[in-house]
Amino acid sequence: MTTILPHGGKLVNRIAEGQEREELLKTSYHLKQIPVNNWTISDLDLIGSGAFSPLTGFMNEEDYRSVVHTMRLADGNVWSIPVTLSVDEETVGSLSIGDQVALTGAEDKVIYAVLNIESVYEVDQEEEANKVFKTSDPEHPGVKKLLERSSIYVGGSVKILNRPQPARFSDFYFDPARTRELFEQKGWRTVVGFQTRNPVHRAHEYIQKSAMEIVDALFLNPLVGETKSDDVPADVRMKSYLVLLENYYPEDRTFLGVFPAAMRYAGPREAIFHAIVRKNYGCTHFIVGRDHAGVGDYYGTYEAQEIFSNFRPEELGITPLFFEHSFFCKKCGNMASSKTCPHPHEEHLTLSGTKVRGLLRDGQCPPPEFTRPEVAEVLIAGMSAQVTP
Ligand code: ADX
Repeated sequence: MTTILPHGGKLVNRIAEGQEREELLKTSYHLKQIPVNNWTISDLDLIGSGAFSPLTGFMNEEDYRSVVHTMRLADGNVWSIPVTLSVDEETVGSLSIGDQVALTGAEDKVIYAVLNIESVYEVDQEEEANKVFKTSDPEHPGVKKLLERSSIYVGGSVKILNRPQPARFSDFYFDPARTRELFEQKGWRTVVGFQTRNPVHRAHEYIQKSAMEIVDALFLNPLVGETKSDDVPADVRMKSYLVLLENYYPEDRTFLGVFPAAMRYAGPREAIFHAIVRKNYGCTHFIVGRDHAGVGDYYGTYEAQEIFSNFRPEELGITPLFFEHSFFCKKCGNMASSKTCPHPHEEHLTLSGTKVRGLLRDGQCPPPEFTRPEVAEVLIAGMSAQVTP
């Protein structure tokens, strides 16, 4: 059986092991230490494990500019989101090209990686925001994060010395090499990846199961890195996925593993990035529904689907499966989209995120046509745990 090729042709592995790790660790104590936050630590880990293949480190100036302006790395490979290391002005003064530095957790002081400096460059963050997020509005959560960082970036390849240890649900962390191996062992030739930062509601379930009708299996791959504070915490979501899978999904055709990346909220560009990364995990197909990775009104409902037409199928190497806005139709008595339902809007059950959160906070289950009761119960319990000191 031939598993799908990783992006760029080869799965990157930048995790130092054995003797190499021992030696690098020894040298790293004498290197200049650059403190890094949790977002950067998660980027490092994803570079290390090959989830971000073909990246071998933080982008140098050439790749960065190429990605921002053309959605490609300098070598022509499609890549839509800058993966960069921002360093404050004081620290940068003492750095030179060719230096090796240690990247150390700002909070825990763990040395996560060593970086070989290839490039030090200053960027125009407003331009980056306008290109990547299609807005420079500081209210946009991705733009806000971007503008909080220094505009001086340091690029170069990395070697990982220590990996962040998940506090919970560690059984659901799989590196791309492992998911590829597992999919192959299970005999799955086609696997559809599903990105989510939310609990799985009936609309999500509907599009996943529609996709499952045409592929061998579903890789439910929730993002569990940094999200904005009003998103449901990853712990609670994980519990809700488990209860949903247990009750409503075929065990032999479903696989749950987390995607430990930070959410960028970059809409269309993030959809491309999400698809490529899932290819690296071994998926052949990837679901893009309405307003994928969007936030507020920054992106058109189907912009994250339209962006795929910029690339030839073989350049992406993973097949996007597009789904229209889905809902429960009272007249049809089932889940549908405008492609399958002839009834007017009034027949459709649609609830805003704010309304659903309000219901859950009051301890009430949303209608079962919107959220499975088992899922709602987990979310209600999760919310009350959050508010009880
Ligand atoms: S996202 O930021 O991770 O994209 P979310 O978890 O809500 O947010 O969405 C996961 C996937 O489901 C995305 O591909 C999104 O487009 C899709 N999706 C969410 N809700 C719907 C819906 N009602 N109809 C169709 N697709 C949807």
